[in-house]
Amino acid sequence: DWTIENFIEMEVANIRSKVGDRKVLCALSGGVDSSVVAALIHKAIGKQLTCIFVDHGLLRKNEAEEVTRTFDDDFDMHFIKIDAADRFLSKLKGVDDPEQKRKIIGNEFIYVFDDEADKLKDIDFLAQGTLYTDVIESGTETAQTIKSHHNVGGLPEDMQFDLIEPLNTLFKDEVRELGLQLGLPENIVWRQPFPGPGLAIRVLGEVTEEKLAIVRESDAILREEIAAAGLDRDIWQYFTVLPDIRSVGVMGDARTYDYTIGIRAVTSVDGMTSDWARIPWDVLEKISTRIVNDVEHINRVVYDVTSKPPATIEWE
Ligand code: XMP
Repeated sequence: DWTIENFIEMEVANIRSKVGDRKVLCALSGGVDSSVVAALIHKAIGKQLTCIFVDHGLLRKNEAEEVTRTFDDDFDMHFIKIDAADRFLSKLKGVDDPEQKRKIIGNEFIYVFDDEADKLKDIDFLAQGTLYTDVIESGTETAQTIKSHHNVGGLPEDMQFDLIEPLNTLFKDEVRELGLQLGLPENIVWRQPFPGPGLAIRVLGEVTEEKLAIVRESDAILREEIAAAGLDRDIWQYFTVLPDIRSVGVMGDARTYDYTIGIRAVTSVDGMTSDWARIPWDVLEKISTRIVNDVEHINRVVYDVTSKPPATIEWE
């Protein structure tokens, strides 16, 4: 009889017998899949698992703190957080092409992870949060790459590890159930999809610290209001983007010439196609008012009403 409890019991036994007294490494992104893999393997072998979490400075507000609290404090894992924001930002300086940004971030992630992994001795296994859907999709590369999807967790090919992929028979909903059963908090188990390059592809054009702060703050407001309206499980993905334009506004008696924030919120099954979410007007109004009032340099908020196709979910 297949139940989550049986699955855990079986996988814990499998992992223990496979690993023995050796060590496992996991690249933790804070996403559902890598988090559940880490929790499951930790249950099986405790501190024989090391998790590396790279903070590339492109995460959402409070995200790094939440991941650290869960895995370092609550689970008490052997957890290594690398603060690499400066490294990533300096590499991104002057770069405005989306694919170039992705490539730089993907490569830098590998360098940072590699540097850290090199310092650890005697690691034999690498844990990955591959799901069943990833297994079947990897056979069907599309002829044309629309966007290169470097996942955080994409790793160097020359690393000499055996892979452990205990989720590769599961679907997403089963992974969430497993996560809850293993004691992961709801904010991780129900985390919306978040791209590896993070906020860097939501600041259109060149990424600067000032622009990242604008996206981060406006995104935090959006998330708060979507949650307050009870819509956070109905909308597949919702975030703000900062287009590289400025427009005229008026605040008090003064003319302003400042940035626009775009709100993107979509419903989808798998991210391949999507429709724009019909967020109630009053919720949108609240979001817009708060963003203009609370986020410096924003004098205009627009709502993206395009489906995919023809638009993509992200703006870059
Ligand atoms: P698009 O914008 O292509 O996005 O409609 C579809 C889904 O993929 C996510 N996405 C990415 N994920 N690295 C990732 O790991 C990327 O470079 C990337 N670009 C887009 C996007 O957030 C959406 O869920």
